[in-house]
Amino acid sequence: MKITKICCIGAGYVGGPTMAVIAQKCPHIQVTVVDLNAERIAAWNDDNVDNIPIYEPGLSAVVAEARGRNLFFSTDVEKAIDEAQLIFISVNTPTKTYGKGKGMAADLKYIELCARQIAQVAKDNKIVVEKSTLPVRTAEAIKNILDHTGNGVQFQILSNPEFLAEGTAVQDLLHPDRILIGGDTTPEGQNAIQALVDVYANWVPTDTILTTNVWSSELSKLTANAFLAQRISSINALSELCEKTGADVNEVARAIGMDSRIGSKFLKSSVGFGGSCFQKDILNLVYIAKSYGLNEVADYWEQVIIMNDHQKRRFSTKIVQTLYNTVASKKIAFLGWAFKKDTNDTRESAAIYVANDLINEQAHIAVYDPKVSSVKVLADLDYLETRSHDANVAQVQSFSNPYEACQGSHAIAVLTEWDEFTTYDWLKIYDGMQKPAFVFDGRNLLDRNKLETIGFVYQGIGA
Ligand code: NAD
Ligand code: UDX
Repeated sequence: MKITKICCIGAGYVGGPTMAVIAQKCPHIQVTVVDLNAERIAAWNDDNVDNIPIYEPGLSAVVAEARGRNLFFSTDVEKAIDEAQLIFISVNTPTKTYGKGKGMAADLKYIELCARQIAQVAKDNKIVVEKSTLPVRTAEAIKNILDHTGNGVQFQILSNPEFLAEGTAVQDLLHPDRILIGGDTTPEGQNAIQALVDVYANWVPTDTILTTNVWSSELSKLTANAFLAQRISSINALSELCEKTGADVNEVARAIGMDSRIGSKFLKSSVGFGGSCFQKDILNLVYIAKSYGLNEVADYWEQVIIMNDHQKRRFSTKIVQTLYNTVASKKIAFLGWAFKKDTNDTRESAAIYVANDLINEQAHIAVYDPKVSSVKVLADLDYLETRSHDANVAQVQSFSNPYEACQGSHAIAVLTEWDEFTTYDWLKIYDGMQKPAFVFDGRNLLDRNKLETIGFVYQGIGA
């Protein structure tokens, strides 16, 4: 099948950038991204391309090039499904917050809704592609729904997980390490795989396009995220031992990273990993393992989350202990709220949990993040339901100027590794603070020697 029209359901952090790059690289294919969220679609269509709802370096330019040419954003889900030969499902698959599997399993209600809508609308054969991260064997459920339409339409289900990381999404999409496509071993399944391979082959070298069976593809995505998160929890576990022994975790990471079998990436000790994927996907993996009775497998992976929770808690505890065991009524400035630099995404950001702990100790939190709004900061805290909205408003204030956020504070906590933090006039910041002036660097970002020379009491992670 030659693909000329693609539809993507879900205009989020994955659907938006991925489809923008497909449209840019395949001008002969019409790509329509649809979403139920009218506000989000309006933002994608904003005349000023800098107002698109997702901040990613380089994304505005890609959207500007393709939008209106062969890239469209719309709320008309049915029309886009009807017209497309190939439909990506890129909706959210959060951890369940209710019922069986609450707090562990992936919530597949949005996926099922998409499948039912496709089944209802489709009048000709379609390839349906799982772009969302899904539990292994989800394609079976989607196929069951699609195969019971009774209107003779044939569907092929492919798994094509996305490996982009936020903050580098455009570069990751332009130069992926690999593209993974899982499909049926039948001739129809292989034809569907080939159709999707042909789309990617417009810019991705074909020897990096991997094809597998559906189940391997689904499980590889959960596995990749589990391995990546495990490296962070491993180095973070050792950061605590470093603090006790006089070893420096940065030096340890460098020393082990030069072993080509270990590799140097993803060994940066931090206040703990965040983001919408790692925790959700590992919990999902743990849940799947348990559902097959594989308790040792489940326990093994669960430790990655336990260690990450410990690392976040350890950071807030260290702040309280260092500030003479009380932060009540003290102003603590947070540099950064996003879960990593170069994104406006705050989902599961360590900053949220550290702030929550400190507010429990009655601290006042002053937040500066170059890309996160005050509304988002409050919404993140409200979501935890630890206290009322008004109580959060009373304890947290956002600033659009980092110097104002730090003015009069007892301590600064670096929660995100934004490059601009290293360029500040730290002497000016020091002069405006209460003394002793503390810096808790949750990203080992700042220059310890420089700050200590100015007079700061500096504490990083794992050193
Ligand atoms: P997101 O929440 O940013 O976007 C999902 C969008 O889907 C939302 O805008 C929502 O309104 C829309 N939606 C939900 N149900 C819908 C329906 N029935 N019809 C139309 N629109 C609907 O989520 P995301 O971060 O883009 O993640 C999407 C999937 O990709 C998840 O499964 C996630 O695990 C996976 N993933 C995410 C990343 C990442 O970095 N964020 C990376 C790889 C994979
Ligand atoms: C992750 C995966 O990397 C990506 O392949 C997948 O598609 C989605 O999930 P993302 O969550 O966007 O991507 O960002 P990532 O760069 O993986 O960072 C996740 C968290 O780990 C961030 O909070 C980051 O600060 C933290 N991290 C990362 C560390 O603490 N140390 C590291 O060495 C690397």
